[in-house]
Amino acid sequence: MLKMTYIRKKTKDGKTYYSLVENTKKGIKTLESYGTQKPIAYQPQIIKGFAEQELKKIPDESVNLIIIDPPYGIEFDTNFRNEESETIGEISLDNEKIFETFPDVVRECYRILKNDSALYCFSRWDTTHRFIAILQKYFKIKNRLNWVKNNWSMGDLSGSYAMQCEDIIFAVKGRHILKEGRPTDYLPYNRVSNQSLFHSHQKPIELIDFLIKNSSKRGDIILDCYMGSGSIIISAVNLLRKSIGIELNDKYIDVLNKRLSKEVLLPLVENTC
Ligand SMILES: C[S@@+](CC[C@H](N)C(=O)[O-])C[C@H]1O[C@@H](n2cnc3c(N)ncnc32)[C@H](O)[C@@H]1O
Repeated sequence: MLKMTYIRKKTKDGKTYYSLVENTKKGIKTLESYGTQKPIAYQPQIIKGFAEQELKKIPDESVNLIIIDPPYGIEFDTNFRNEESETIGEISLDNEKIFETFPDVVRECYRILKNDSALYCFSRWDTTHRFIAILQKYFKIKNRLNWVKNNWSMGDLSGSYAMQCEDIIFAVKGRHILKEGRPTDYLPYNRVSNQSLFHSHQKPIELIDFLIKNSSKRGDIILDCYMGSGSIIISAVNLLRKSIGIELNDKYIDVLNKRLSKEVLLPLVENTC
């Protein structure tokens, strides 16, 4: 578990500087410098439900950045099946199900995203082309970013290459200008360690921080409509963005609340988005 602290430092000239630091074995590492402005962190808006339905309730052009990690391979449930069985969180191993509702989700994402803004979509080599085919009906696809992990998959041990990369599709609505110079598409970030893992597809905060800093500013609204354990939300809150998370499984909403109490140290003000 991260040992993070929110600190205030007064300098000789009387100014107070705010930052978020982490206690590591090698000493104190600054995670985020907030400067002299007192940081305001926003309580995220968490919605329990199906992305394809809940997104319809969000106003046009009201969010600044969308980061999504659609379920592929595991943990996907359709709206139809859920209503029928009245159970939440049944696991389906059917990779195809996501492609039934994803076109509606993408259309809604485009509608609610402000012009000149970005969408990042996590994916994997064998589904990326299918996500792109749907996304490009609305968005301009700019890059396929390569998240290069410090571990690799098992799979066919002697008949296939071990998979060490995941894809992130970078798409834009209008002309989106990156905020942190010209980064490359090679993103080396360690996977989440087993002791900090709440979700089998949990994404590392440092990687999400990188995407959020490149494509939004403080006070902006970030949306994640397949929230899982809430890594995108945690990162948004600590980077002083407003956030909206949608997740159908209660279990993960509980996880997010626990993570908020441990991984967010700033006092939260009500989110007015
Ligand atoms: C790949 S995981 C996201 C993991 C997340 N990025 C993290 O770091 O923990 C996808 C999540 O989407 C949720 N989900 C699946 N279908 C959904 C739907 N139609 N609407 C909303 N959430 C859904 C699943 O319960 C799962 O937790």
